Amino acid sequence: MKALSLLAGTLSLLTLAQLSAREPKEYDKDVSYREERLPAYDLPKLLVTPQGKTIKTAEEWHTIRRPQILALYSNLIYGCVPEPASPIQQSFEVVKTDPEFMGGKATRKDVKIRLKNDLGEMEMHFLVYVPNKAEKPAPTFFKHSFNNTKSRDFDVSDKNPGTLRNGWPLGDFFDRGYGFCAVYQQDLVGHNETSFLNSIHKLFYPKGQSFPKASEWGVLSTCAWGAMRGMDYLETDDDIDHTRVAIMGHSKMGKATLWTAAQDERFALAISAQSGCAGAALWRRKSGETLKKMVTRFPYWLCRNAWKFVEQEDDLPVDQHMLLACIAPRPVYVHSGVGDTWADSRGEYLSAYHASEVYRLLGKKGLESEESPEVGKAIIKSDVGYHNREGGHSIDPFDWERFMEFAEYHFKKTN
Ligand code: GCU
Repeated sequence: MKALSLLAGTLSLLTLAQLSAREPKEYDKDVSYREERLPAYDLPKLLVTPQGKTIKTAEEWHTIRRPQILALYSNLIYGCVPEPASPIQQSFEVVKTDPEFMGGKATRKDVKIRLKNDLGEMEMHFLVYVPNKAEKPAPTFFKHSFNNTKSRDFDVSDKNPGTLRNGWPLGDFFDRGYGFCAVYQQDLVGHNETSFLNSIHKLFYPKGQSFPKASEWGVLSTCAWGAMRGMDYLETDDDIDHTRVAIMGHSKMGKATLWTAAQDERFALAISAQSGCAGAALWRRKSGETLKKMVTRFPYWLCRNAWKFVEQEDDLPVDQHMLLACIAPRPVYVHSGVGDTWADSRGEYLSAYHASEVYRLLGKKGLESEESPEVGKAIIKSDVGYHNREGGHSIDPFDWERFMEFAEYHFKKTN
């Protein structure tokens, strides 16, 4: 009997090990990438309210429809940030300044952002690089970072002195007069958080609560909230022009970027790099990563209300073109990769294309053709920009260049 149960134990361990070794293929195995196999769908209307009112003016968009859409995203997709149980005090401290960063091209500031109330305290690290030779205050890029900003990844690379050890070509940004900031996605919440007891959430729970409610913030909303605290700091830093901040992020951080920019109008421009599912890609296409796949592997990136729409995407009152539209009239840029099928490049383009309706209503220039542009051709001189390039899931030199061009075009235009 004992021998039998031992055998069964060994077998189930083996099965588990085999399953987890196969896991990356398992989650991808039934994904559809063929356009002709994708479902037919109707997108929810951007410019018609649930009451049937057609939105005809910029004012109606700003005062009626945009708030409705943001509330839907807050309550059903990313989760809203509740009122904290007691007021949070926020303080900033520049803990280290290096005026000789990258051979004197920039000044690096390590900023500590402290968040504190009766229930506890959390700290965020915020990195700010100011170009030394440029006019101040300088416009800046602001990256939602996967990597820990306290790590050596953010030092200058020995092999290529114009870049950081993580590959970011910051020398080019400094030469063009841009600052660069970064906030680490895991300072306030874990990458695939499942308990939220050690995250920033603990400062928000009223007595008796220990887990976010179904409509309350998941991981992506938490990252977005953190970036807003970085922006609070920038508003106090005279070296940075906080009216010209371009927020950006790749993949999971691209999703967080769009949600940050949609809500917080202090960010003047947004760049989504291969943000895919829950980022720029349309839910209803179900191509590449789907809602089901996302919540299976990352259950709390979104709020729990989003689970209700698994395999029921047609019931969602929003699709991701509406998220991009909430950024209007501020310029938004979407970058896809041909080989990044998981992020559905066609769905990312269509989202940007459909969001353009709102840009036009607000007197801005959107994408004009429903056809995706040629691979490698970037649309820069538009308030909705886009490129798709050969290759997979990464930010390549070609992409960095386009991001700088896009920001340069728009920031100069508004000056
Ligand atoms: C996973 C996840 C994606 C995410 C990506 C990333 O692949 O499924 O949604 O974008 O990780 O963040 O790199």
